[in-house]
Amino acid sequence: MARLGYQAVRRSRPIRAYPPSYWDSQASEWDELVRRPKNPHQFYYLEADYLISSVLEKPMQALELGCGTGGSTAVHRRQVAQLVATDFSLEMVRRAARGVRDPVRFVVADASHLPFRDRAFDVVFSRGVLLSYVPDPSRTLEEARRVLRPGGKLAMDAMNRISGGRGKVSRLFHTIGDRPAYVEYAMREGRQIRRIHWLSETSPLAARAKKEDRPKTRPRNLQAHVASVEQYEGRLFRAGELKELLEAARFKDVRVTPLGHLAYTLGFADDSTQRFARKHRRPLSKLYLQLADHFRLETAWHLLVRAVRR
Ligand SMILES: C[S@@+](CC[C@H](N)C(=O)[O-])C[C@H]1O[C@@H](n2cnc3c(N)ncnc32)[C@H](O)[C@@H]1O
Repeated sequence: MARLGYQAVRRSRPIRAYPPSYWDSQASEWDELVRRPKNPHQFYYLEADYLISSVLEKPMQALELGCGTGGSTAVHRRQVAQLVATDFSLEMVRRAARGVRDPVRFVVADASHLPFRDRAFDVVFSRGVLLSYVPDPSRTLEEARRVLRPGGKLAMDAMNRISGGRGKVSRLFHTIGDRPAYVEYAMREGRQIRRIHWLSETSPLAARAKKEDRPKTRPRNLQAHVASVEQYEGRLFRAGELKELLEAARFKDVRVTPLGHLAYTLGFADDSTQRFARKHRRPLSKLYLQLADHFRLETAWHLLVRAVRR
């Protein structure tokens, strides 16, 4: 099999993927994080949901990958006959199972090793850039293909390799699952890198984590305050790379749509424009998607790919 996309991604070293324990620690605060008014999720999640909805049909047997706390599950459950929602984080799945009212079968499963028979589903979807988090995206796409029937649909998003902003480091004190941390965050060499310095509970810096303080430079003498350090990465894709990967995994009719251009209003517009954008995010997002083919793929926050299994 020609594996061009596979090769393109393999040219770079493998990412250090976030383990399930990291996502477990995110579960209790995930919904609140996504709802924050200034968070770009306000737009790119909504837009992803509209595009995912466009491939769902009422009689379908559907599989969701990386369902998290079930935000995306709840949106799409009634659009199909049956939905199996999966995630490899037990804590995420527990929360989702508590929160989603409509009948859904929840399964704890790694998207790269799915416990389902071949050709079991009419559609596989995912919201929340799972493809950027898995260590081997080709493997995940091949699993998706395996469980899809021929002609079945795929819709999933990924982090875009936005041009510009390279080398800029964002710094933040915050708590992750109640533990105080100082986090450095950067985009470099096609990956989103998050370096988590877990602060010792007795450190005076721990108080800054509660306030979500954003220092401009790395705190002096940091090592003296740190109990341990972890670094995780997400993979950033160019639209062409994504397309190649999908085709190498034997999908056809691949369409890549840019997501999140409207999210720029949240960070950069004046207050009244920001308020307007938030208040009207649904009609604005629909309008944006009508026009999406005219926006530049290279400047989108996320990319959503839709394709058909050969
Ligand atoms: C950014 S969250 C999105 C959650 C949810 N879909 C939403 O839209 O709110 C990404 C999710 O992918 C899950 N995930 C990451 N790698 C995974 C893997 N290899 N297999 C299954 N789930 C994975 C994480 O546990 C997390 O819940």
